[in-house]
Amino acid sequence: MYLESLKLINFRNYNQLTLKFHPKINVFVGDNAQGKTNILEAIYLTSTAKSFRTTKDRELIKFDKDQAYIKVEAKKRYTDTMVELKLEEGKKKQIKLNRITLSKNSEILNNVYVVVFSPEDLKLIKEGPSERRKFIDHEISQMKPSYFHHLNEYQKVLIQRNHLIKKIVHNKKYMDTLDIWDEKLIELGTKLMMERSKFVTRMSPLSRLIHRKITENKENIEVKYMSSIELKNTFEETIESFRKALKGSLDVDLQRGTTTFGPHRDDLGVFVNGIDIRSFGSQGQQRTSALSLKLAEIELIKGETGEYPILLLDDVMSELDVNRQKFLIKALRDVQIFITTTEINHLNELRVNKEYIFHVDHATVHNEFI
Ligand SMILES: Nc1ncnc2c1ncn2[C@@H]1O[C@H](COP(=O)(O)OP(=O)(O)OP(=O)(O)O)[C@@H](O)[C@H]1O
Ligand SMILES: [Mg+2]
Repeated sequence: MYLESLKLINFRNYNQLTLKFHPKINVFVGDNAQGKTNILEAIYLTSTAKSFRTTKDRELIKFDKDQAYIKVEAKKRYTDTMVELKLEEGKKKQIKLNRITLSKNSEILNNVYVVVFSPEDLKLIKEGPSERRKFIDHEISQMKPSYFHHLNEYQKVLIQRNHLIKKIVHNKKYMDTLDIWDEKLIELGTKLMMERSKFVTRMSPLSRLIHRKITENKENIEVKYMSSIELKNTFEETIESFRKALKGSLDVDLQRGTTTFGPHRDDLGVFVNGIDIRSFGSQGQQRTSALSLKLAEIELIKGETGEYPILLLDDVMSELDVNRQKFLIKALRDVQIFITTTEINHLNELRVNKEYIFHVDHATVHNEFI
């Protein structure tokens, strides 16, 4: 899929902005703090209604205004789609899909697919497990609204359970209600774990192919879902395995005031030539692996939905050497890409159509033609 146009009103530092895009490569170039990432953020919002930078809608609305508006028009294989978001101070986001107002914001999912790649993502392997969980969660959520829903529910139930076990320490009578929360946690948690495991199993061969190409057949990458619970073949068996772990760790949980087992403790294991590169990889291996995972994710979305997602490359080109840049662009021939950079010379190899090099300067955007 690709975006044809974007319109912003009072979003971040923009008053009004209307842009028409190229179906392949679009570049935003400009000094720091001019509004380049703001444009990518607006695009990203049309995918999940969430920002990759903040959870506070207020920050997205122009400082001196109380409402903001974003609209994108996209071409998909069989249909076109239009997404509009209205952000209003102190109110829930209002979202329209093809001019129809959504009753639940999660209905926005599974429509516009977006993958972001930023210098932080290059650290995906190096960082702690929570970053890798976020990566998995975001990708599955885009394609599976029910996963997004279960994840939100799980997080709420986990907070409740942790509250409860802290209360039990002071007063044993609260023990009576623990089972109810445990059962909710187990059911939702099992759904999440099985979905994540399925996702990683599908992603692993894709990342392997890509990684072999980037490293000229020198490295074999393997990704594994590392669960704190033993995953079984069936849902019921996994429920049982989770229940056993949860009951078995009750004393420890009570002592620590937290929940020791569950998907909130899981991780993505990344192995290169059999070595766990989360701990033992070189900086270069960790970055290349992060790139492979991101590219695998693009292929996975294509495989699952029939559509290539849109790729946002925020400041990431200057972090990659020319060979990796070229590889990236070649591998993504069918993907619409939005690139931000402070230095257009970093992109010399790309031969971008001049019409789609947008110069961003204090929240105004122009190219050679506008
Ligand atoms: N709600 C808002 N209202 C007005 N201006 C805002 C708002 N939020 C952010 N800004 C401004 O937007 C600018 C940052 O924009 P952005 O992050 O897009 O910069 P950038 O061009 O990507 O810069 P860099 O190259 O440093 O990444 C800052 O000047 C900031 O003050
Ligand atoms: Mg930026």
